[in-house]
Amino acid sequence: FSAKISNPGLGFIKEKKMAHQKVIILDFGSQYTQLIARKVREQGVFSEIVPFDTDPKSFADENLIGIILSGGPASALEKDSPRPYSGILELGVPVIGICYGMQVLALMLGGGLSASSSREYGRAAIRIDISEPLFSGVERESIVWMSHGDHVINLPENFRACASTETLPIAAFQNIERGIYALQFHPEVHHTERGTDIIRNFLYTICGARGDWTMSSFIETQIEIVRERVGSDENVVLGLSGGVDSAVVAALLDRAIGDRFYPVFVNNGLLRLGEAVQVCSDFKRHFGRELIYIDATETFLRNLSGVEDPEKKRKIIGGTFIDVFLESVSHINNINYLAQGTLYPDVIESVSTKGPSAVIKSHHNVGGLPDKLGLELIEPLRKLFKDEVRKLGAKLGLPRKMLWRHPFPGPGLAVRVLGAITPERLEILRRADNIFIEELHNFGQYDNVWQAFAVLLPVKSVGVMGDERTYEHVLALRAVDSVDGMTADWSRLPDNLLARCSSRIINEVKGVNRVCYDISSKPPATIEWE
Ligand code: XMP
Repeated sequence: FSAKISNPGLGFIKEKKMAHQKVIILDFGSQYTQLIARKVREQGVFSEIVPFDTDPKSFADENLIGIILSGGPASALEKDSPRPYSGILELGVPVIGICYGMQVLALMLGGGLSASSSREYGRAAIRIDISEPLFSGVERESIVWMSHGDHVINLPENFRACASTETLPIAAFQNIERGIYALQFHPEVHHTERGTDIIRNFLYTICGARGDWTMSSFIETQIEIVRERVGSDENVVLGLSGGVDSAVVAALLDRAIGDRFYPVFVNNGLLRLGEAVQVCSDFKRHFGRELIYIDATETFLRNLSGVEDPEKKRKIIGGTFIDVFLESVSHINNINYLAQGTLYPDVIESVSTKGPSAVIKSHHNVGGLPDKLGLELIEPLRKLFKDEVRKLGAKLGLPRKMLWRHPFPGPGLAVRVLGAITPERLEILRRADNIFIEELHNFGQYDNVWQAFAVLLPVKSVGVMGDERTYEHVLALRAVDSVDGMTADWSRLPDNLLARCSSRIINEVKGVNRVCYDISSKPPATIEWE
């Protein structure tokens, strides 16, 4: 291997080649910041989230067409509350503030705020001035979503109010000449009836967007970037996981450099029933060649033998993966790059993503890999949200089944066999899990849930089968509804589906005599049990 220092991203020059117009979102910590970014992108305009105190010099270039100030939990009336650089108003591009963003703009421009005694949260009927370009095509009265404490009572000079509610005379303000707009409500949330139109008006009518953020243009640019980076005598390795992200990276690399990318799939012995064979055959069918398949089941299970602590399991699996992966690619010459399916939510340095949730479980199981290998990273998806990755995969011709699979954790069944892992316990879990997934498909429910799986508990329970008393394993089924895995609710699956799963599992899986359904939400529980 070449001893290069790993490079966390694309070079500046190559980045500039991605000449999409862009909207910058200054993040003040709202739970909706990522939603704003996705809503803008859904309109065909690239958007990026940066911390609220980012120096505009770092994002002001010819591609910048607008700036959005997000909401946030602080009160703008507090001393030391977050403020952006005032220079954001001098860049010659339109600026819009949402909720906290509105209040901050009001203060920066010389307006006045009042602290409400109680927070206003939820739906509100709004009356707007429909002659304004921001509200073009929107009805005079509609429903919006509010979530605020403070509100604007004095307009900045030369600004006018352009929407109101029963309790708020200034629910939106603007100065068209200066290109500054502000909304007290959240246009990005689903419950704001005409929110999408307002965002679209801001982007297209006010900022002059061209709508150049499309998956086709993304594919072309990425292919060009990869071809330019990877020299004709250089090679790329990619760890396939069987999940969506690495499959999409594989499809992009395949288009860009053909067989100079080496796909490696490590079977860690912690996969689901038939999964290893499935991943290999799907790959062969789609790409017309074999992947490098390493069956390291024995090594992983030996290293995990007797280990009960979940975090210890994760560390062992991560460490073993690095060793196995290194060994498996050691025979390939001229490997210079490691490709990874890192996504945008993993790299955003936003106020809202810095929270306790990030450290509850150590999710980045193979974090040390690039350094150990001395390889440069290729991360073509690091600007994309998951829904965009799926669209990209569809454009690249990947089958629907591959794109809409439920997420599966890196440590696999190790965190679903609670307590110590043995081949026998893994086998019980695999069979039960397979029945659950089969029945979700049979009942047409697989696509309705975000993630579903079985968990083998470290307890036995008494039962009776025929005339005999049994003392066997207890198994839990878990199915959740979620958007991004950060919060989740248990899925209200039909009774007859659960009944069918329970009876099939107890009849068909030897060693299980009791099935429970997990009815905990996240928080306070997590999705996985370990
Ligand atoms: P939790 O259990 O934290 O899970 O609510 C949220 C999402 O993350 C997945 N998960 C993991 N993924 N390595 C992974 O790659 C891990 O160690 C890990 N732990 C949980 C989980 O399946 C769910 O989709």
